[in-house]
Amino acid sequence: MDLKSIVRDIPNFPQPDIVFRDITTLLKNPRALRYTVDTMGDRCGELAPDYVLGMESRGFLFGVPLACQLGAGFIPVRKSGKLPAPVYSIEYELEYGTDRLEIHQDAIEPGSRVLIVDDLIATGGTAAATAQLVQQAGGETIGFGFIVELAALGGREKLPSVPIISLVEY
Ligand code: PRP
Ligand code: ADE
Repeated sequence: MDLKSIVRDIPNFPQPDIVFRDITTLLKNPRALRYTVDTMGDRCGELAPDYVLGMESRGFLFGVPLACQLGAGFIPVRKSGKLPAPVYSIEYELEYGTDRLEIHQDAIEPGSRVLIVDDLIATGGTAAATAQLVQQAGGETIGFGFIVELAALGGREKLPSVPIISLVEY
């Protein structure tokens, strides 16, 4: 299935010169959604994660169904101030600004295998920061899964050398 033709391009959002790759058009398409989760499941299955970890907010949309598909649990990484128990916290840079991500300190049992999933990798700042949180929390990042990769921004160069799976490249 040609997912690239289903993801919608919105020029100049959220600021001039950014082309926003909008996955809401994929999410609302039942066949495309099923295909996306199935394909990601097929390509990530051999990594045998204990947990799929997704970043707020768009990482949740694909992380939870993928975790179900793989028979893994799901761990949320959230923007600052949202998680109720003690957290590890990290500031990171985005394609358009900075932000802060947090994980519960007790979310990951030591040595657990963690697959980090998000809708999209741009600069790689979010995914690299998340891998640092996983390490701080005692987990092992065994792979990354993205629906969309903005390859021209070189985000994957910021990530540790584990399998990096993406379904659509720009
Ligand atoms: C988007 C996207 C990724 C991140 C990618 O999230 O969902 O998490 O940017 O950018 P990077 O590779 O340059 O770090 P955003 O922070 O916009 O939050 P949202 O998911 O809540 O929309
Ligand atoms: N997150 C960071 N850059 C993005 C882009 N160009 N489109 C959609 N989400 C993004």
